[in-house]
Amino acid sequence: MAVRSIFRGVGRYLPERVLSNEELSKTVDTSDSWIRERTGIGQRHIAAEGETTSDLAYAAALSALKDADMDAQEIDLIIMATTTPDYTFPATATLVQERLGIRHGAAFDIQAVCSGFIYAVKLADSMIRTESAKNVLVIGAETFSRILDWEDRGTCVLFGDGAGAFIFSAQEVDETDINRKGVLNTFIRSDGRFRELLYVDGGPSTTQTVGHVRMIGNQVFRHAVRDISQAMETCANEAGIPVSEIDWFVPHQANQRILNGVAKQLKINPEQVISTVEWHANTSAASVPLAFAHAKVDGRIKAGDLVMLEAFGGGFTWGAALIRL
Ligand code: UT7
Repeated sequence: MAVRSIFRGVGRYLPERVLSNEELSKTVDTSDSWIRERTGIGQRHIAAEGETTSDLAYAAALSALKDADMDAQEIDLIIMATTTPDYTFPATATLVQERLGIRHGAAFDIQAVCSGFIYAVKLADSMIRTESAKNVLVIGAETFSRILDWEDRGTCVLFGDGAGAFIFSAQEVDETDINRKGVLNTFIRSDGRFRELLYVDGGPSTTQTVGHVRMIGNQVFRHAVRDISQAMETCANEAGIPVSEIDWFVPHQANQRILNGVAKQLKINPEQVISTVEWHANTSAASVPLAFAHAKVDGRIKAGDLVMLEAFGGGFTWGAALIRL
């Protein structure tokens, strides 16, 4: 027997305001047809004035606690993946911890941009395996609209705001059971040589400003398809599970063409790939838990299913996680 991380529940929150491609094309030199054809995006949610990343994260956390049928007091660790924190410090996770009324344990943020949620799952799993935490709230939350250059049509049409959260709990499991539940394997990578293909042109120590997202999209695209495919194959191989046995693939929602490219490369049936690109656009660290929540609520992802999460983002960073519910 060994202590492993069991999935307990998922939550989500999307800001009320929806910005359609049509509406966006009135202020930016673009069109609904260009955005749909090149990305699959139809709309995105945008946080209201004064609505912060911690507000979105708190709402997603409450929704995850409800799904898991747990009380906030049971949580002893909060790991939050975000690139758009409320403040340079303290960590946004601590703001959520305070609002949940949790006075014990620890809370911290991690930064891996769009791959942040996968990194956070890896960390949560590692801390549970080493018996450093029992019930971990993992949140991906972003107000990406705040770091967009709304005059740069190459980036501003691609992103949206939102939050998603998972809860994992420590449980003794029989590792020899081939149907055992929980996090089966995680895989993360980064390569800092590609910083200039996707970055923000500001920060506390450089410009003392927040900066705006900059991207050379077509180059990012090529790396994304290759690296995501490799990450998923490696993650599955290390777990001793063929990709063909996986029930659902929950990818980072950057571009429908990336989802299609990866599915083709790994010979995955596109119907097994969860896509929310059309409704949410790219919500960075929130995109994987948001897509997962969507498919769990509509009844596709069920208890016992084998699910592969994956993401790719600035850094470059990328990774994958294999979980049996
Ligand atoms: O989440 C982190 C990871 N991010 C990603 O994975 C994003 C990866 N990249 C992409 O999704 C795609 O590269 C984009 C959607 C960003 C762009 O699609 P593309 O097919 O790679 O287009 P492109 O950048 O090669 O640009 C093609 C043309 C250009 O015009 P010219 O030079 O051919 O005349 C752009 O100026 O499309 C133009 N363009 C636009 N036109 C209308 C770029 N953005 C727009 C726009 N509306 N919003």
